[in-house]
Amino acid sequence: AKAFNEQINREYYSAFLYLAMSAWLNEQDLPGAAKWMYVQYQEELVHAQGLVKYLMLRGDKVDLMPIEAPKKEWTSPLNAFEEALEHERQVTKWIDDLAKMAEEEGDRAARLFLDWYILEQVEEEANGEENVVLWGRAGDAPSGIMMLDVHYGQRGFSPDEIPHLD
Ligand code: FEO
Repeated sequence: AKAFNEQINREYYSAFLYLAMSAWLNEQDLPGAAKWMYVQYQEELVHAQGLVKYLMLRGDKVDLMPIEAPKKEWTSPLNAFEEALEHERQVTKWIDDLAKMAEEEGDRAARLFLDWYILEQVEEEANGEENVVLWGRAGDAPSGIMMLDVHYGQRGFSPDEIPHLD
């Protein structure tokens, strides 16, 4: 339960980080990229809520802790997307550590529950890698950045359905 609570805090921190990135991208007059990152913020809230609901279902204590303040400025959109990818790679390690702990503890329910998060991280890293490639390609070309921003603005939010928690 302690390890799950730490992950809840990290998911809320992830939400804060992406909300800060969204606000910064908006300040850079990139409303599409800002929207994409806002959707990312919303997804992180769902990831945290999934873990909270799981602990509640098992009758374990939910221990909400202070959320660290994220940084607020980046040097370029590419720099923000690179840091987002780096962060997701760290999240993958944390989820993998949780899964290993569940295996060592023989906690089959926790291990099974974490399957969704393990696969979600595959998607998160794939998206992050694509972001870095696309924003790297756009470089400093205003027309490329404008087209990419329109593309990113098309992302909509549909809440992830985390299994077993209806
Ligand atoms: Fe909750 Fe982006 O992983």
